[in-house]
Amino acid sequence: MYSEKVMDHFQNPRNVGEIPDADGVGLEGNPVCGDVMQIWIKVKDDRIMDAKFKTFGCGAAIATSSMVTELVKGKTLDEALQISNAAVAQALDGLPSHKMHCSNLAADALHKAIDDYRNKARGDAQAKDAGAAN
Ligand code: FES
Repeated sequence: MYSEKVMDHFQNPRNVGEIPDADGVGLEGNPVCGDVMQIWIKVKDDRIMDAKFKTFGCGAAIATSSMVTELVKGKTLDEALQISNAAVAQALDGLPSHKMHCSNLAADALHKAIDDYRNKARGDAQAKDAGAAN
């Protein structure tokens, strides 16, 4: 059975949508079932200020996506990278064991969004350095 928190986040998911001018985007698919999650993050001073998601998936995937967007707001990028699928499931008061794989989507998509942000930031810094050298 699902916990009340899972049902709440499934029926009233927080932070659904896109951030058009996002600083990082992560897309992850679940190889077990083919479900997909995309997450957008807004970053300022190394901290996640906003996060939104769209998930094409089961109830557990939607609930974990919703929860991860709540968990990351206000966290530094390093703190956000520490958020594991188990931590997301725990924040929802647990998931049935056969649905634990669903929580990988949210954690993995988040980590990809952070990587995306860091890659872009590195690229911008290199472009600036190249500009300064010319
Ligand atoms: Fe696909 Fe849950 S069954 S993510």
